[in-house]
Amino acid sequence: MSIDTIDVSMKPNNKRNIKAAITGVGGFVPEDFISNKDLEKMVDTNDEWITARTGIKKRRILKDKGKGTSFLAINAAKDLIAKKKINPESIDLVIVSTITPDFHGASTAPTVASAIKAKNAYAFDLSAACSGFLFGMSTATSYIESGRYKKVLLIGADMMSSIVDYTDRSTSILFGDGAGAVLVEPSLNGYGWEDEYLRSDGIGAEWLNIKSGGSLYPISNETIANKWHYIAQDGKTVFKSAVSEMANATEQIIIRNELKSEEIKYLLPHQANKRIIDATAEKINLDKNKVLMNIENYGNTTAATIPLLMYDYEKNLNEGDKLILAAFGAGLTWGAAYLTWAYN
Ligand code: COA
Repeated sequence: MSIDTIDVSMKPNNKRNIKAAITGVGGFVPEDFISNKDLEKMVDTNDEWITARTGIKKRRILKDKGKGTSFLAINAAKDLIAKKKINPESIDLVIVSTITPDFHGASTAPTVASAIKAKNAYAFDLSAACSGFLFGMSTATSYIESGRYKKVLLIGADMMSSIVDYTDRSTSILFGDGAGAVLVEPSLNGYGWEDEYLRSDGIGAEWLNIKSGGSLYPISNETIANKWHYIAQDGKTVFKSAVSEMANATEQIIIRNELKSEEIKYLLPHQANKRIIDATAEKINLDKNKVLMNIENYGNTTAATIPLLMYDYEKNLNEGDKLILAAFGAGLTWGAAYLTWAYN
């Protein structure tokens, strides 16, 4: 791609007085899982096909009745709070990025904020599917950059097992449950959120969605009979769009920040399909060992994939490391971001 084709309309604003940084990470996945071998008994599939076509071996599943996405999010938040030894009362805002809230109407973030005793925070959910963490980071960093908020807790959490049809082999092989949390604060050392390139296109809403339960198709006997309460997708079309848009967004971020491949420490891509990740890395000429992955163990946990990567690989990250994040999901939504890691 030549520099002429780079979208300069949203060039990084380096005049910010306050830079936001991720200063802590937490995570949680349930212990129970469904392996590829388990799936062989449920749908017409096999371990070899799933491994070769997706890179996934197993997905964690929250099996306990009476527990929803808030349970995952609360545990990820508690993990972060304990590790960072922060007083929950110092948190100003809790954002939960999710497409599987406990309820419609009452958002999940207030449940999480109350459970972790963040009693001085206000809280809301953000819905951007697999781009939920990236869009959430854009929101969280903007609150910090405004100067009005000092501690924002962003949690990407999804209980995908609650919307997966385990008789559908095109979706049941892909998704899992999990949550990842990050604390976003004003940077003290100059490292943090550097730039973002985020986009959406509603034309693709029909390619990946949960059709019923919203205002267009309220739940009825008919919607249930049609299985519209489950996630459904046109896998091939989503795959093609994901490959081209994730690669393009990543390229835009790299070129306009004048980053060389060798300078980038890691790419943290949304974990939807190993083949989408490999194609993105190839497009930007990035060594395979610079691409962080945990899709094999968790599958696609939607808003939780990128913070769970940070959680799993936190020990590998050092102050000043140049990281690229990239995601693509329902909506359609997608984007990439550049950040410099702020702590050891
Ligand atoms: N097990 C075994 N065989 C399967 C299968 C499964 N689970 N699913 C499809 N197949 C078969 C198909 O019937 C087809 O057989 P045929 O060639 O005899 O007709 C063949 O495998 C290829 O099917 P296709 O649908 O082209 O597979 P694919 O390579 O596109 O992979 C997905 C399917 C769903 C894994 C892939 O399209 C994908 O990952 N899409 C993006 C999904 C995504 O990321 N969604 C979340 C948003 S980020």
